[in-house]
Amino acid sequence: MAKNFFKRRITRVAILLLACFVLIQFFRPPLGNPPVTGDLQAPPEVKSILQRACYDCHSNETKLAWFDKPAPAIWLVTTHVKEGRELLNFSHWDSLSVDQQKGKLFESLNQIVFKEMPLSQYTTFHGDARVSDGDIRILRKYLASLAPPKLADSAAVQSADEQYAKWIAATGAGPDVKPEPNGFAYLSDFSSWQAISSTERWDNGTMRVIMGNPAAVKAIREGRTNPWPDGTAFAKVAWKALLRPSGEIMPGQFLQVEFMLKDKEKYATTGGWGWGRWKGDELKPYGKDASFVSECMHCHQPMHDRDLVFTMPVEVRDEKVITSRIDKSKGTMSTLYGNDIAVAAARKGIAYPAHSVLTLVTWRQKEDEHWYGANIPASIQSVETVKYGIDPEDRWKYMTGLRASVMP
Ligand code: HEC
Ligand code: HEC
Repeated sequence: MAKNFFKRRITRVAILLLACFVLIQFFRPPLGNPPVTGDLQAPPEVKSILQRACYDCHSNETKLAWFDKPAPAIWLVTTHVKEGRELLNFSHWDSLSVDQQKGKLFESLNQIVFKEMPLSQYTTFHGDARVSDGDIRILRKYLASLAPPKLADSAAVQSADEQYAKWIAATGAGPDVKPEPNGFAYLSDFSSWQAISSTERWDNGTMRVIMGNPAAVKAIREGRTNPWPDGTAFAKVAWKALLRPSGEIMPGQFLQVEFMLKDKEKYATTGGWGWGRWKGDELKPYGKDASFVSECMHCHQPMHDRDLVFTMPVEVRDEKVITSRIDKSKGTMSTLYGNDIAVAAARKGIAYPAHSVLTLVTWRQKEDEHWYGANIPASIQSVETVKYGIDPEDRWKYMTGLRASVMP
């Protein structure tokens, strides 16, 4: 008697579920394949990896498997494909500039290396989309070939000289800098912060110095860097890298400054950080609308276990940064620091006055394990200090001859 009752109940539930399943099939978002206007151009062995692992979500050539098609699976698939295509679409490759294409490829490789892409929810069902170590080697080799070291041309040197001349001659408050569309305001005092590291970005031909505000420096000294405390701010300043015939790379034109400012509550929806980027001499806000922040966050996502911060600070000095250099022939990178008197003189391009102290710290370079395309400081090779008034010897001449990096 009781047995029959349960049997009937189970049958009824099963019929109900089946009816629901059939019914929801009528609610399917449209997911077509719009035309391919300009497909990715890359060697066949590179392209086939991306086609196999990425094209289902990042192109207009989405191929659904039979198990992707019934609802509710199709709902998830559609969301992924829509979002994926919006951010990166290999079918509209020619709508990007050559530099943007290169940037997207380096970002793609780094997302793969950190197992952010392809999405794991997807590879669970689409095993053939997994990217092997061999595939990664092929991609690395191809990407390295896209960014060979090149001597700076005279136009690049000239525009750096012109910008520098304008900068040291400038008086007054500088440009009136607008906030980003997300409301994040420019942090105008960053040039007085302390350097916490530097990077050579050979992927896009730039060099950068990463600076921390006093709250960041305090957190570093107290070892409270994961998570970073509220009030922490970083500035990353980027210059065009100029490779000189001597093998030394010097900062050329100032390109942009980017900030991250920590406030767990205020910025709860953007990973606890406020994000902003200002470009060029006029310090133009980067975002067209507030959605630019998702670009920042996606690329910083592989660092989710480190509070979204890439930089591992090197030893922080009390002095301020004047400029930086990379020596390709020696595999080193250096930062020139000065006391306040020296920094003020360097940024005005005038002779160093009495009591100036300069310190040049040189590190051996290593590959950044968190970003294929970057080199960062490894162990310290030397710390050289020169004080004004000492007989001019080689290093004094060298160090006082390094002109300051433009920092608005
Ligand atoms: C199942 C769909 C899917 C597949 C397959 C997939 N992606 Fe994505 N991808 C997404 C989604 C969704 C996002 C945005 C949300 C996120 O980051 O999780 C994204 C974001 C990205 C971004 C960030 C884009 C930006 O500018 O913000 C990159 C780069 C990327 N994917 C590269 C790849 C590469 C390379 C592959 C192949 C190895 C791949 N993806 C495979 C769905 C996918
Ligand atoms: C294409 C990937 C990518 C995108 C997009 C990106 N970043 Fe970063 N960011 C990096 C990498 C890599 C570093 C580490 C330093 C370096 O190598 O230049 C970094 C470092 C930083 C730092 C220094 C602190 C740290 O995490 O090391 C700040 C500040 C920063 N980014 C701000 C931003 C802002 C603001 C945006 C968006 C407007 C943004 N980033 C978008 C890759 C990216």
